Amino acid sequence: MVDKENTVTSEDNTKENVLKFFKDYEIREENVQQYIDSIIKDFYKPSPSIYASNNDSVKEIQSKFGDSSIPEGIICDKNNINKYFSEIKENVIDKATRVSSPNMVGHMTTALPFFHRPLSKLVTSMNQNVVKVETSATTTFLERETLSKLHRAFFNQSPEFYEKYLSITEGTFGCITSGGTIANLTAMWVARNKAFPKTDSFDGIEKEGVISALRYYGYNDMAIVGSELMHYSFKKAADVLGMGLKNIYTIPVDSEYGIRIDLLIEKLEELKRKKIKVIAIVGIACTTEVGSIDNLEVLADLAKKYEALFHVDGAWGGSFIMSEKYRYLLKGIELADTVTIDGHKLLYTPMGCGIVLFKSPLLPTTTIRKVASYVIRAGSMDHGKTTLEGSRPANVLYLHASLNLLGHRGLSSLLDIAVENTNYMAELVKSYPQFEIISKPITNIFLYRYIPSWLRKDNEQFEVRYPVSPNSKTIEIEEVSTLYSNSTQDQTFDISDLTDKEENSFVEEEPSQYTNEENQVIDYFTTELQAKQKREGKGFVSKTTVKTTKYPNYEKGIDVLRVVIANPLVTHENIKAVVEEQIRLSQELEKEYKMKTQSI
Ligand SMILES: Cc1ncc(COP(=O)(O)O)c(C=O)c1O
Repeated sequence: MVDKENTVTSEDNTKENVLKFFKDYEIREENVQQYIDSIIKDFYKPSPSIYASNNDSVKEIQSKFGDSSIPEGIICDKNNINKYFSEIKENVIDKATRVSSPNMVGHMTTALPFFHRPLSKLVTSMNQNVVKVETSATTTFLERETLSKLHRAFFNQSPEFYEKYLSITEGTFGCITSGGTIANLTAMWVARNKAFPKTDSFDGIEKEGVISALRYYGYNDMAIVGSELMHYSFKKAADVLGMGLKNIYTIPVDSEYGIRIDLLIEKLEELKRKKIKVIAIVGIACTTEVGSIDNLEVLADLAKKYEALFHVDGAWGGSFIMSEKYRYLLKGIELADTVTIDGHKLLYTPMGCGIVLFKSPLLPTTTIRKVASYVIRAGSMDHGKTTLEGSRPANVLYLHASLNLLGHRGLSSLLDIAVENTNYMAELVKSYPQFEIISKPITNIFLYRYIPSWLRKDNEQFEVRYPVSPNSKTIEIEEVSTLYSNSTQDQTFDISDLTDKEENSFVEEEPSQYTNEENQVIDYFTTELQAKQKREGKGFVSKTTVKTTKYPNYEKGIDVLRVVIANPLVTHENIKAVVEEQIRLSQELEKEYKMKTQSI
């Protein structure tokens, strides 16, 4: 991308010039900063498209990124630095996905409160490395404090407990990771090492390895057990931990997409008979595909009975612990040994912020702790002792700011807005005979699909209502909206009809059934509709394939449109626009399909 003609290649002044990037930087930095500020402003201009400018094809975009050489010289003059950034603007920023677009209702990546943008400059300017106290004199303790806040929200131990573990070097409330994947991997690492501990005659799996551990304890293998909707990060964990993917046992789900307890018990008994050690039972809250939540209380009991670690993957839904209305859905999470949450999902932090919490702060100390004489010393507060990652940025600043500036009530309101918008969209979708609801929103995800006109049956759909706790309170939209309205986006909340909904539980009707051949046609239309809308670039829902108890004989699973709403900037108008566009596009698709099939 860089014009190599313009790089300074003379060896004589290279040293002098390269130092300019570190010293005398004010003028240069100011210049770049001004330019970047103007880019950001452009990026956030309201646009009907989910891409900042024209929606180029993937191939066209890819073709701009084919330069595998590094320039020989230095670019240190103002004009060429500006030229470099203007190329970045044209090729990268202008065509980037506008994840905060309110017409994008199919992804887990969302708009950020305004304070995270300036905070990101601070994180980079300080460039702390939280691996050890020597390079993070204050942010290590900020991490500790922030982790204690989250630990308390989930596990609510006594004030003495928090006082103790905030001050001693042994033990940690959790680890801050780059995301949910590493958080889940850390939890499985702890689970594996906990399952094969040190004895008088065995040094523990950590030192002896998998084969010796199985041999010593008399097992044929080890396993992770959870529902078939477990996130694929568990496959990565099983692979990295030397267990193999075959040792992840996935249990089918029920009609509400929660793990089938009867089949789980059967599997646990079978594994026991086969002398396969279950290192962890995984509960999900909420599943990535559907948004469903497992029965965590029962899973906790089973984990106790079968002496397995109980992990809850709350990367998406764990943050509902902040919601007064929906916290009750997570009942049993307080019984978990480990919990994953993603800050960069529903705690509204920038990317790169996951968390694994340990109910017992000593659990990682006794299972995975590592020390090195030159960096992470045994008696120190260094967080690198128990984090999988080594050098890490102080992303805790985002997490701390989200928790402290938004607070319990702010986060709770953001989640209420998300759920109510999802409810609104589900009701809207339901009102169109073109669509079949496949999974009702439990929180802020739901699935539906497009039924072509000639296949539509008199389809009494689900009554889409939320299970809401009886002691919920009115949301405080205005307070939260101020944290977003200062953003450079001109979007505001559509609060006119965000009134409290009637509260009751789901009413389920007998769904209509389609044959496998019909399901194949429905799959085609659903897939094409999602792709067509994505190509048009004005609205977006994602697509996935799920196995459903509605169509047990359709083994491949049905293709569905997946709605995920986290962005508080989404209005009812945005939602209507997305659904109405789908209706228009589906009519075009039907015409094209008929022409194609008639011409055969
Ligand atoms: C339930 C669940 N677990 C784990 C993850 C992985 O998180 P990350 O993408 O932050 O690594 C996700 C991401 O979507 C998720 O939904």
